[in-house]
Amino acid sequence: MSSTFTHISRRSLATAVKNAASVQEISVSNSTLPPNSRIFSMIQPTGRIHLGNYLGAVKSWRTLAESNTDPSNKFIYGIADLHAITVPKDPKQLKEYRYQAIASLLASGLDTSKCILFFQSAVPEHAELNWFLTCMTSMGALNRMTQWKSKAQQSDSSSILEENVLEMTKAGLFCYPALQAADILLYKSTHVPVGDDQSQHLELCRNVAKTFNSTYNTDYFPLPKTLLTPAKKILSLKTPAKKMSKSDPVATSCIYVTDTPEEITLKIKKATTDSIQGQVYFDPVERPGVSNLINIVSGLSNKSIDEVVEDMSFINNHKELKDYVTNIIIEEFDAKRQLYDELMKDRSYLESICTQGRDTAREIASTNLQEVKQIMGLD
Ligand code: AMP
Ligand code: TRP
Repeated sequence: MSSTFTHISRRSLATAVKNAASVQEISVSNSTLPPNSRIFSMIQPTGRIHLGNYLGAVKSWRTLAESNTDPSNKFIYGIADLHAITVPKDPKQLKEYRYQAIASLLASGLDTSKCILFFQSAVPEHAELNWFLTCMTSMGALNRMTQWKSKAQQSDSSSILEENVLEMTKAGLFCYPALQAADILLYKSTHVPVGDDQSQHLELCRNVAKTFNSTYNTDYFPLPKTLLTPAKKILSLKTPAKKMSKSDPVATSCIYVTDTPEEITLKIKKATTDSIQGQVYFDPVERPGVSNLINIVSGLSNKSIDEVVEDMSFINNHKELKDYVTNIIIEEFDAKRQLYDELMKDRSYLESICTQGRDTAREIASTNLQEVKQIMGLD
């Protein structure tokens, strides 16, 4: 299915892609990715995608694919269902969430004539490379990661060396970043567009690639660059001290791509702001709620924070601000919600997309894995 949503800026691409630094921002520019780039990313099947996923990841996946017409570039986007099971999942719900995730990606405008869309568990090479890379990843590096700690309900400062943490943490959850490194390296990916929260995992992935390359005296794996989106972190609407997340117990703190105009209106109406009167300005420390709304508009409109604040200069109070933000979000998501509803009714179409994506992904994955095995003496 081809993209219905081509109105986003074609210019918003990574200038920085040309630079040597490993962490780069996807910024408004008209530069292109170098030839033979492999852009890879994944999202967990936690159901419908929210505004944080959309602005932190999926919108930039689409922008990258739309803005680069060089056929030597590949765009590979997956549903990380093997990562999802690092925390127990009800099988029926997981199955439903996998469909919802694929439908959300399609509804968000990913064009399958340009992007490979697939389920991680359908390509067994991920699990195989995971094992090879787990053997090259130090427990210390894994222990420094923070995502497993939040998923195991531990604080960022806790350590696997603490007896209770050790007992409560499953090995799969602890080793999760090695699987993520396998996902990326399996396709010899060069660029990985993600939200800020994944920077740490990407750093670990580069270190694993370096270890592999130096152990086997090869330059087989490229060191993948992190592409951070301009709207790096979208915060909870109710508690703007933390990131927007599906697991937030307060339902109105998170807006989904599939929310109706009424739901969006209500959630923005209830969003935490502050008691500062008068004109709107960006100050994430003093005005985290208002600044989060400005950041959301900036991400949706492909404009800088300064431009957005300038556009908002006619606004004199919180109600006007909220009406303004509400309209922009509704406009972005209305058609996507309708397409999502249609797609969810057409399972066989969703199946066909995933089968096609799996076959194309496997072709690349099996060739590369064979080469890795040769390098390691396992062929
Ligand atoms: P997850 O839903 O945790 O699998 O995240 C999928 C993608 O969305 C990753 O690239 C995350 O970095 C990004 N992401 C998730 N939550 C947010 C958020 N609140 N703000 C920005 N990006 C996010
Ligand atoms: N860990 C990522 C998240 O929680 C999902 C993910 C799995 C991923 N494998 C990946 C992201 C590879 C980028 C590249 O969002």
